[in-house]
Amino acid sequence: MPKTTILDLYKKKAEAKKITMLTAYDYPTAQIVDQAGIDVILVGDSLGMVVQGVTSTLPVTMEEMLYHTKIVSRATQSALVVGDMPFLSYQTSIEDAVRNAGRFLKEAGAEAVKLEGGVQMADVIRAIVAAGIPVMGHIGLTPQYVHALGGYKVQGKDEAAREKILADARAVQDAGAFSVVLEATPSSLAKEISEAATIPTIGIGAGPDCDGQVLVLHDLLGLFDRFTPKFVKQYARLKDQALKAVKDFKQDVDSGSFPSKEHSFQ
Ligand code: KIV
Repeated sequence: MPKTTILDLYKKKAEAKKITMLTAYDYPTAQIVDQAGIDVILVGDSLGMVVQGVTSTLPVTMEEMLYHTKIVSRATQSALVVGDMPFLSYQTSIEDAVRNAGRFLKEAGAEAVKLEGGVQMADVIRAIVAAGIPVMGHIGLTPQYVHALGGYKVQGKDEAAREKILADARAVQDAGAFSVVLEATPSSLAKEISEAATIPTIGIGAGPDCDGQVLVLHDLLGLFDRFTPKFVKQYARLKDQALKAVKDFKQDVDSGSFPSKEHSFQ
């Protein structure tokens, strides 16, 4: 399978074919997502919650993101790999933003970066794109702004908030982003943005009319159960299966039935 590029995503939008994106954070999960034919792998800063066990994405560092992105890139044959820029890696100055975005491509093998924010991040997106680094925007519920937003809430519910998100979508596109994630917005707003945008929209909790859909892999697989947002569909319950397997091992060792002759050298 040839590598997916940002041009393939534009083509999918033009042909009204849906784009799929999932997160992955390590070698086995990236291989699973890649081999399933998913278009884009996002090495999301959600790894703070689902891998590191912290309660928000804010503590995640550049070095941690580069470490995980490097491993994911190594495992990926065909999906486009997008590295998620962590909190304070692009908000401090345009120079920091370009340098840190560049590290995802130069040191970690990503092919694009994602960052959160609309109108207020337009100049940052423009500068990163000017350096030859494809940028995916992220608007609506932007988890790095959790404290400014007063919690993880659906965004764009009243007219003023709706207008703000429409302006954010326009700003991200005009700044040169190749696509934009819409998180936790009413379906009607995501539909309006997706119909107006020339770049693909990728929704999470934004209804069925986006050009693509993204989920956090650990939510989809049932590996993360601390909380489950309304927009998550669990396609498996791997935590339950893993727990049973580990308990079975313990029981076998306790009872002496493992290792048997079959698993021993004579
Ligand atoms: O960090 C992440 O996984 C994300 C997705 C939820 C879009 O930003």
